[in-house]
Amino acid sequence: MSSFKTRLNQAAGRGGRIILACDYAAGAETRAVGDIGLLSDHICGIKLNLHLLLPLGAGDVARITRKAHDCGLECIADIKLNDIGSTNRAALQALWGMGFDAVIANPIMGAASLKDVADLSHDGGRGVISLCHMSAPQAAGMYEMDVRHDGRLVPLYRAFLDVAASCRVDGIVVGATFPEMIRTCKESYPDLPVFSPGVGIQGGSAGDAVSAGSDYLIVGRSILESDDPVRAAAELRAQSL
Ligand code: XMP
Repeated sequence: MSSFKTRLNQAAGRGGRIILACDYAAGAETRAVGDIGLLSDHICGIKLNLHLLLPLGAGDVARITRKAHDCGLECIADIKLNDIGSTNRAALQALWGMGFDAVIANPIMGAASLKDVADLSHDGGRGVISLCHMSAPQAAGMYEMDVRHDGRLVPLYRAFLDVAASCRVDGIVVGATFPEMIRTCKESYPDLPVFSPGVGIQGGSAGDAVSAGSDYLIVGRSILESDDPVRAAAELRAQSL
């Protein structure tokens, strides 16, 4: 089986680098399946988070991931996984059972635990994307806080970046609201894909994020709440070429 990284790259070759954040308040399964069908020419993947994973059952989620796969899209579970090994393993098994291709994890669990999650995921052709710097401005104080790493004081995001690279994860999350941070991360690890939420409603620009080095843009409300989601997705795709 090919790797998540390869499959996502191939999907981006067909549909561009937008990943749809399926954040619905109601009617989630029907709306997600419908939007995937409508938008699949303009996106490379979907991301589901607690908006759907809490209210929906595993069967509903599996129907959404099946529809996405039928349309050639990759499916990412955004649960910011961060726990002890046995719990991480149980969570991964449940997610893979629902059809997910990758999980977003929080490296605060420690390098050894993140490496374990990455190894377990790669064994089945799945992927791990590790948080590096959140898109929300309120988070900056924490992600830029100095911590001791490799014997010196560095900002927390820098430690997360090095840990992500050493664990051979499939990408990092750096908000589109911090293009200079994207540039810094990309300069350090050019081959580590950057996933950027925060475009549009949160204030980030698709063009600026991609110019800074972002490989994939995670977008929810700017598409889902648009009067014309297909046009919104097509425009964002064009801005991120
Ligand atoms: P909007 O509607 O703002 O949705 O386009 C963004 C989506 O991305 C999630 N999000 C993040 N996920 N790290 C993450 O792993 C982040 O820094 C981050 N910021 C936003 C958000 O939950 C929503 O699904």
